[in-house]
Amino acid sequence: MKKKYYIETQGCQMNEYDSKKMENLFLQKMNFEKTNIKENADVLIVNTCSIREKAQEKVFSLLGSWNKLKNKNPDIVIGVAGCVASQESNSIKSRAPYVDMIIGPQTIHRLPQIYKDCTQTKKTIIDIEFPLVEKFDNLPSEKVSKFSEYVTIMEGCSKYCSYCVVPYTRGIEVSRPLNDILYEINSLVKNGTKEIVLLGQNVNAYKYKDEKGNFINFGLLLFYIARNKNIKRIRYTTSHPNNFDEETYLAYKKLPQLVSHLHLPIQSGSDRVLASMKRGYTVLEYKSVINKLKKARPNITFSSDFIVGFPGETEEDFLKTIDIIKEVNYDHSYSFIYSKRPGTPAASIIDNVTSDEKKERLAFLKKTIDDLSKNKSQSIIGEETEILVEGKSSKYKNMVTGRTTNNKIINVLGDKKLIGKILNVKVRQLENKTLLGEIL
Ligand code: 5AD
Ligand code: SF4
Repeated sequence: MKKKYYIETQGCQMNEYDSKKMENLFLQKMNFEKTNIKENADVLIVNTCSIREKAQEKVFSLLGSWNKLKNKNPDIVIGVAGCVASQESNSIKSRAPYVDMIIGPQTIHRLPQIYKDCTQTKKTIIDIEFPLVEKFDNLPSEKVSKFSEYVTIMEGCSKYCSYCVVPYTRGIEVSRPLNDILYEINSLVKNGTKEIVLLGQNVNAYKYKDEKGNFINFGLLLFYIARNKNIKRIRYTTSHPNNFDEETYLAYKKLPQLVSHLHLPIQSGSDRVLASMKRGYTVLEYKSVINKLKKARPNITFSSDFIVGFPGETEEDFLKTIDIIKEVNYDHSYSFIYSKRPGTPAASIIDNVTSDEKKERLAFLKKTIDDLSKNKSQSIIGEETEILVEGKSSKYKNMVTGRTTNNKIINVLGDKKLIGKILNVKVRQLENKTLLGEIL
């Protein structure tokens, strides 16, 4: 009987991508099968996130519950992968000594060897190096492709925002070779993928020098990818306002498959807070990027990340964030209360914003964006638009759910045969937060 693995994924899309790659290793290289029931698993892995304190604490309570399973069956192997593994390997060893494998984000491809070593030696194996280029060369490719697939084009971050652990957990920015990316995308598309989502901590910081000495930036990469005409849509996340090159603006003019929606984190609308965050731009500079993008693609819409209650953030600073939200008209956000991360420069700034104030600000910010989003959804009722069907609707039994180029979700009558198809629809009504449409 084959052994079984169980993987739990926390955090960002990069982790989802890495977990999928670990699954491929289990299935293709280690002769395991998947289980969704942890009690049946021989190997349990949690792929972790350490961006905020809460996420990190979740890992330890999860590990405690897995230890109970291991007490019943000592042969169970427990692994911690991802950013907590990278940053907290020592505290994992002391707080959860029953963990057998500690694997950083850049060494997941070594999973088969790490597993072999820990089962043979019965010792905890820690591998949290950053040998990035090696990682992608050693990961098996997908056997089955979904209509939409993530492709990592670069990893790590060299921006060192004062609050963020990513540069320490994932290392500095490193871009994958152009040909490897195109090869991966072309094989996914051959297997039926219609939408490619490019991933990286700062995708638009992509830079690669090919064998002939030609310099490929993010915008050029978009043009290379778009040469495959079977790709219906190209999306990417996350981008940084300081990394937009002229070719990317041109791509918005020339490549209709590049969607008209961009996640472009601003974090705060106050120049004082942005400087303290070491984001490297002012609000005016951010707005200039937005204006250039709008010039290239007039119907483009935006979403952003926000940190509320950064140490020293005054009510006035916060209201400036609300101003920029209204000005840019964001229709979605990932917003968080600032979380102090050990080892980051911001951890030593005196934090005089009370917890209640932070909670109030966060709720107000979320409501502001929700209202804008609702207005935007209402404004497209009656319009004809195109959706790419993603799957069956979880809310309505006889409906499928699709996404517009502006990232709005629309449900229409239909079954799973429509998945992966581009449909022309008329938007009919807004029910709570869900748009309903009719296929034309
Ligand atoms: N506290 C709160 N939010 C954070 N983020 C990153 N670090 C922190 C922190 N210490 C948020 C930022 C980033 C997103 C991925 O997570 O908004 O864009
Ligand atoms: Fe973190 Fe800033 Fe890098 Fe984003 S750009 S990953 S917030 S350091």
